[in-house]
Amino acid sequence: MTDQPGRSDALVLFGATGDLARKKIFPAVYEMERANRLAVPVIGVASSQGDDDWIRQRAREAIEKYTGQPDAEALERLLARLQYVSGNYRDPDLFDRLAEKLRACARPLFYLAIPPTLFDDVIEGIARVGLNRSGRIVVEKPFGRDRASARELNEIVHKAFPESAVFRIDHYLGKESVENLMVFRFANSMLEPIWNRNFIANVQITMVERFGVEGRGRFYEEVGAMRDVVQNHLLQVLALLTMEPPIASHAEALRDEKVRLFRQVRTIEPQCLVRGQYKGYRDEPGVAPDSDVETFAALRFEIDSWRWAGVPFLIRTGKRMPLSASESVTTFSDPPRLLFTEPDAPDPEPNRLRFRLGKRDGITVHLHAKKPGDELVTQRLNLEVDYDTALGHREEAYQRLLDDAMDGDARRFSREDSLDEQWRIVDDVLEHHDPVIIYEPDTWGPPEAAELAAPIGGWIDPLPTD
Ligand code: BG6
Repeated sequence: MTDQPGRSDALVLFGATGDLARKKIFPAVYEMERANRLAVPVIGVASSQGDDDWIRQRAREAIEKYTGQPDAEALERLLARLQYVSGNYRDPDLFDRLAEKLRACARPLFYLAIPPTLFDDVIEGIARVGLNRSGRIVVEKPFGRDRASARELNEIVHKAFPESAVFRIDHYLGKESVENLMVFRFANSMLEPIWNRNFIANVQITMVERFGVEGRGRFYEEVGAMRDVVQNHLLQVLALLTMEPPIASHAEALRDEKVRLFRQVRTIEPQCLVRGQYKGYRDEPGVAPDSDVETFAALRFEIDSWRWAGVPFLIRTGKRMPLSASESVTTFSDPPRLLFTEPDAPDPEPNRLRFRLGKRDGITVHLHAKKPGDELVTQRLNLEVDYDTALGHREEAYQRLLDDAMDGDARRFSREDSLDEQWRIVDDVLEHHDPVIIYEPDTWGPPEAAELAAPIGGWIDPLPTD
């Protein structure tokens, strides 16, 4: 169960000098301050030598860089709250000094943006000084390296924190556009009756990026595309597109339904996966010269349920692709008879519903209307909505998720059983797979990926977002 006995009264950021903290966490914490949702001490923890002024300067630079023009007053308020504790995560003294700083706090929130190899020491350190007793903990993805290590990690975490105080983060769950997948389905009665195998021919989920690993080579060597985005972000998108309606909107109702869905997803077999690596990846700093880590993955999924049996689900992700985009495309079956086609013309494209999830997020519906003129034939027509225009400003994912975790609200975080199933789905192919196939940058990956999608008419190119 999720307990929500009170808002956290301190925020402790382990890994405060890392890339993630700079790009996402400090900007998110600043947005919370600006929205008057912080009001607690913020303590950065990392191994680099430094003092409060030093971390404040780093935070200022990060916030200025990644939020554009910050509000000066809010920024100063945040910096005044910010303190720094430096030291070795394996050194008990670090946790004594942290406990001293948190003396007046009853319910700190610990955010761990650190390498998984350090989880053990940090969690033990927190528990040794008793800060776990009423604290909460946020753990970054990927949670473990595979099913077995995720189970071990859960044991470590549970030695110090009950499940209700554990927040396994996947920032896709904090994206408005991703959460909307489920809301849009169940809020619009015109959609749900046709959202099944009787009307849907296939579903594709694409998350592609124009850039490469950009200095994250060492991290990426440990994960690859499967652990970096497939096991987490993209399976979450799949679940929100396919799960049954939850019986209520509270955390456990949502998470119960999601785990039921994951249980119905078949374990991926090696022939349903194509792994690629962009040419030049092995020259990146921190990457092994003979690396077999995938920077591209294309997969075919099946869901063994009454709603989805027989419907192919395809996922494709890659770095150094021709463009950056994140979207899902649902392709509907053809009408029983294609009445309004031009003689000798190829069959018209089927109806499609495209959820755009990344930059310039929104919805595009691909339909047909009568082509002007004498003939009774159709032409393609797109109905398009950009959320920014239609819905206005929306919070960034990390702001939403940190705010939720401070409230003890687990709705947008992964439960232990769900993650266990997510690992089960990919576990076998993490071990058993063909070597990566090298692909040219700025292409859609290895040609073998096209073969995977051939039976459903090929991959649908995402719409450009920049
Ligand atoms: C992160 C991955 O979780 O998500 C990155 O580690 C990836 O490799 C990023 O680039 C994409 O996030 P977003 O929000 O830009 O789609």
